[in-house]
Amino acid sequence: MIQEFSKIKNVSGTINIPGDKSISHRAVMFAALADGKSTIKNCLLSEDVLSTINCFRQLGIVIEIDGNTVNVWGKGLNGLQKTESELNAGNSGTTARLLSGILAMQQFESVITGDASLSKRPMERIVAPLKMLGCKVSASEKNTLPLHFTPSMNLKPITYKLPVASAQVKSSVLLAGLYLEERTKVIEPVQTRNHTENLLRLTVDENATGKIISVSSKNRPEAQDYFVPSDISTASFFIVLALLIPKSNLVLKNILLNDTRNAVLLLLQKMGASIEIENVKVSLGEKYGDIVVCSSKLHNIDFNKGIIPNIIDEIPILSIAGYFAEGEFLIRNAEELRKKESDRISSICRNFELLGADVQEFADGFSITKQIEKDDLTFNSFGDHRIAMAFSILSSLLKGGGKIENFECVSISNPLFMEQLASISAAQ
Ligand code: S3P
Repeated sequence: MIQEFSKIKNVSGTINIPGDKSISHRAVMFAALADGKSTIKNCLLSEDVLSTINCFRQLGIVIEIDGNTVNVWGKGLNGLQKTESELNAGNSGTTARLLSGILAMQQFESVITGDASLSKRPMERIVAPLKMLGCKVSASEKNTLPLHFTPSMNLKPITYKLPVASAQVKSSVLLAGLYLEERTKVIEPVQTRNHTENLLRLTVDENATGKIISVSSKNRPEAQDYFVPSDISTASFFIVLALLIPKSNLVLKNILLNDTRNAVLLLLQKMGASIEIENVKVSLGEKYGDIVVCSSKLHNIDFNKGIIPNIIDEIPILSIAGYFAEGEFLIRNAEELRKKESDRISSICRNFELLGADVQEFADGFSITKQIEKDDLTFNSFGDHRIAMAFSILSSLLKGGGKIENFECVSISNPLFMEQLASISAAQ
C-alpha cells in the first residue's frame, strides 16, 4: 500500500504513545514463565508483540487481551507445552532470539520460523552461546531461521563475553541461564538496553572489561503487575517532527527514559533541540516521564562509538533530523544497522539519493548533506517499519509532501501511527 503525506504546517497538543516494544515483549515472556497471573498495563499490541503473544499461546499459556492491558496466566519455568506446529516469530528478531534462549532449555522439541525479512537475519550470534551452554540447536546452512531445538541432557552454565553489542543475544543467554542452578554470566563490553536485567532484578557488576550480568534459577520471574512506559523509539519520530516544524509545541506522556535508551534525547539536545523532561517516575526499575518539545534550529554533531547501541533504532529518524540540520550528518561504527529489519544503511541512503541529497555510503555508516530537493517522490520502506516512519516524517516536511511504498509495515511497531500523526498536525 502507498501512503501519501502532505506538508504539515504545525504540530501541537499532547500525544500518548503505545508501550515500549522491548519491554512489552519481555513482560509477556517473563509473565508466561512466572507462576500465576500477571497483568501488563500499557502493553504494546503491535504485530511484533502479537508474534510473542501467539508463540506463548501455542506453548500453552493463556493470554487475554483487554484494550492495552494483557493478562497472562504463567505456568512457571517448566510449564510450557510442546507445540503441534512450528512457532512463527513473524518479523520480530526479539521474539526469535529471546524465545530461543527459553526453547533451548525445554524437554521437548521445537522449531522457530519467521517472515522473509527475519529469515535473512543472523542467528549464529545466539546459536553459538546456546551450544556452549550444551543446548542442541541448529540453524539453516546460512545460520538463519528456521531454528530447531531438541532436548539436551548436558546443560552447563557459561561465562560469555558478547562479541557483538546486542541486547537480544545478551537476553537469549540470560533466559537460558534461568534454567540452571549454577550462575551463568554475560560480560558486556559495550552497554546495550538493560530491560532483561531490570525486570528480572539481575545482579550487575562492572570491571575493566565491562558490565558482568549474573543469572541463575534463583532469578526465576514472579507473577506481578507490569506498567510498560511508552516507547521512546516510537516517540522519537514525533519529537523530530515537532522540532523541525516552526512554532510547534508537543507533549509526549510517560515516555521511557531508561539510560540505555535515552541517548536520542541527549543527542538531539546537543544538536540544539528544546526538549524538557517533566514528572519523572520509576516502575520496576524503568524510568519514564513526560517530554515537552518546541521547534528548534538544529546543527549536526559527532556521534561517538559507544553511543551507537543506545541509538541503534533511532538512527533512521536521527538521519532525518540531521538532513535538516546545519552541516553534514555522519554516522560510523554502525555496521549492525545492516542486520535489522532491512539493511538500514542501504535503505536510508537509497531514499536520500531519491531526494537529491549528497550521500556517501560506508560499510559501517553513511553521510548525508542537503542538496537540491526533488519533488513528487515515492520513498521505499523496504518493508521496514522504522524506515517507513522516518521517511513519512521527512515527507511531512517537504513542500510537495511525499509518498511511502509498502507503508503497512508500520504496524510492526505502531499500528496507530497515522491516527497519532493526524491528532497533532495541522495541514498547510
Ligand atoms: C532489541 C534489541 C536491539 C534493537 C531491537 C530490540 C531488544 O536489537 O535493535 O529493536 O528488545 O532487545 P539487537 O539486540 O539486535 O541490537
